[in-house]
Amino acid sequence: MDRIAVITSGGDAPGMNAAIRAVVRAAIGRGAAVVGFHHGYEGIIKNEAEPLDSKSVGGIITTGGTILRTARSKDFMERVGREKAIEVLRENGCEGIVVIGGDGSLTGALKLHEEFQFPVMGVPGSIDNDISGTDYSIGFDTAVNAALDAVDRVRDTAYSHERVFVIEVMGRRNGFIALEAALAGGAEAVLIPEIPYSLLEICDQLRDQAAKGKRSSIIIVAEGAAKAGDIKDFIQKNTGFEARFLVLGHMQRGGSPTAFDRVLALRLGAYATNRLLSGYRGEMAGVDGNKLVSHPLSYVLSTERMVDPEKLLLAEVMAQ
Ligand code: F6P
Repeated sequence: MDRIAVITSGGDAPGMNAAIRAVVRAAIGRGAAVVGFHHGYEGIIKNEAEPLDSKSVGGIITTGGTILRTARSKDFMERVGREKAIEVLRENGCEGIVVIGGDGSLTGALKLHEEFQFPVMGVPGSIDNDISGTDYSIGFDTAVNAALDAVDRVRDTAYSHERVFVIEVMGRRNGFIALEAALAGGAEAVLIPEIPYSLLEICDQLRDQAAKGKRSSIIIVAEGAAKAGDIKDFIQKNTGFEARFLVLGHMQRGGSPTAFDRVLALRLGAYATNRLLSGYRGEMAGVDGNKLVSHPLSYVLSTERMVDPEKLLLAEVMAQ
């Protein structure tokens, strides 16, 4: 393989730039050239190609977002869009592609592999950490730390005013960010979509804690579980405690990647590239207990990633 493509697709995640850098430099190290396409699959269809050399990915390891930009392409969902994408990739001399993104992007990669036998490798990039086949996806650690910073700041004012704060974090249909931020931030309760919860029980718990002298609380809610404003209203109405809420939103997706995310991105980007150049196809690189692994995309996309029951129990015990 003399030339490969790279894209970032779907929601951006801090560390995607480090992954692009790793793909480019690993490929160059093996004597292959790299073409980056802007705006993910949409940019392939529109032929937004940019040859990437070692210098063009210099100085990006520290930055959030993605230098290649990103998009969620409607055209690529249709077979005719994918045919066009394959045509453009071939016109540009690309013999394979590394796709950095979340499950929607990896689903697109699997389609290129299955429908056109085009050589693809996936790299998990999503703050949600909801991708099977890897312990961590790129951007999760940075997003958790951004959420945690907000939780720590809110705790100061919650304590001073003796209020209940409900903080909504991202995570799409999952509660990985919520659970991690709740554990690290010492939250009094965490609501995630994977586990049923009772708001009346949470109100009882807040009353018990208040009776023991705890006059401020932080409740973390995953966006897929409920709206923070509704939870705040319910608690205020049922307990009489003064409550406030905030929705952290996209601030969790920006900022300089943590050391963890940078190293993860470098390892996964380089590993995926090396495997693609060595003839492996239709897989996604991941980490399992800090070891690099690679699983078929078909397996990754058909397996649901479960929340760790040990962490759930720990959050419950710690909130007492
Ligand atoms: O998948 C990443 C993510 O940030 C989710 O946590 C969130 O639900 C979604 O993307 C938001 O998407 P958009 O940026 O299109 O509003």
